[in-house]
Amino acid sequence: MPALPIAEKVAHDIKSASWVREMFERGRRLKARLGDENVYDFSLGNPNAEPPREFFDAMRMCAAEHNPPMHRYMSNNGYEETRSAVARFVSREYRAPYDAGGVIMTAGAAAALNVALRAILNPGDEVIVFEPYFPEYRFYIEQAQGRMVVAPTDDSLQPDLEAFDRAITPRTRAIIVNSPNNPTGVVYSERTCRGLAELVARRDSDERPLYVLCDDIYRRLIYDIDWCPALAPLVRRSIVVSSYSKDLSVPGERIGYLAMAANIPQRDLLVAATAMLNRTLGFVNAPAFMQRVIARCADALCDVNFYRENRDLLCGALRDFGYELNTPGGAFYAFPRSPIDDIEFIDVLTRHNILAVPGSGFGRPGHFRLSYCVDRKTIERSLPAFDAALRECRDARVAAS
Ligand SMILES: Cc1ncc(COP(=O)(O)O)c(C=O)c1O
Repeated sequence: MPALPIAEKVAHDIKSASWVREMFERGRRLKARLGDENVYDFSLGNPNAEPPREFFDAMRMCAAEHNPPMHRYMSNNGYEETRSAVARFVSREYRAPYDAGGVIMTAGAAAALNVALRAILNPGDEVIVFEPYFPEYRFYIEQAQGRMVVAPTDDSLQPDLEAFDRAITPRTRAIIVNSPNNPTGVVYSERTCRGLAELVARRDSDERPLYVLCDDIYRRLIYDIDWCPALAPLVRRSIVVSSYSKDLSVPGERIGYLAMAANIPQRDLLVAATAMLNRTLGFVNAPAFMQRVIARCADALCDVNFYRENRDLLCGALRDFGYELNTPGGAFYAFPRSPIDDIEFIDVLTRHNILAVPGSGFGRPGHFRLSYCVDRKTIERSLPAFDAALRECRDARVAAS
């Protein structure tokens, strides 16, 4: 038998990431057959709000400058000017002091997570995530030779604090907290943040450091509150992981950061480790042009109202049809309950030309994820299909009884 021409672990990962691939393939086939406008694709979390005017102004300004050294290698941490702008923004956003010395610019939040995990994990260390979770976490953790441990959430999809406490073991090195959450759109409450912080404080020690990675890339996409409760300032060893992918609606530009407050024990060592890994993981530094742009628009925000209106239209209609769902408070995801087995329901939806991702793909069967970062027209035109899909399941149930 010929040897596997690629690494076994990667071959395994390609197979286990099958939901993403599967929906992509289904979408491609359906669109080829029916035309793009007749397929209602809610499967991808690709931001589609208009980037803010400040972003385009900053790009024009930076492009107009003629200064050849600006295109050279730089410190692996990023430009001082950009890190200062990010530190000012993060301090305001978190209502806590952050300084440029604790900011590392990265190629998006995905790079930031990889860098941070590699910086803190020893082989076999455990990282707790809450289900349902962003599926890429498993790859990032395993690439850093860690082991992902899944802790449950309650019926309202907030972390179950008692279960979390039980999930912490002597091997637990980090937890990843993502609020507003992908895939649920749930914003973790002030109570949840305080509860998590208290439990972490009880277990964290200099002998067994316990880090909290706050994956906060959606924290400014919130719809019913003015300020998203923040876990990072409540925890001694917190690392803010974020990016401009969603705030500015520019994920293709790959610009993000890590922010570490000055009072983290041995912060200098942590900063040196993350800068080193930015280099040795091959990113070297975050894109220079984008760093200069961000220095000029670090607090700009895309049109969040666009997502709010999409949410209200989609979730309101789904509820009217009889779907069970909590109104998501942030990000651009809804996570309704599935009327039948979630994987079977995804097939029903596909027959009605709707693409969605089963909750099983995020470690939470019985639900499905809809990304409502789509054109308004896609939502409007999809609604009869959502109605028909639910009716089909109900009719089948009646016929079977
Ligand atoms: C929860 C979560 N974390 C991280 C990322 C990666 O973001 P970025 O595009 O900044 O790498 C995403 C992207 O969708 C995400 O949903």
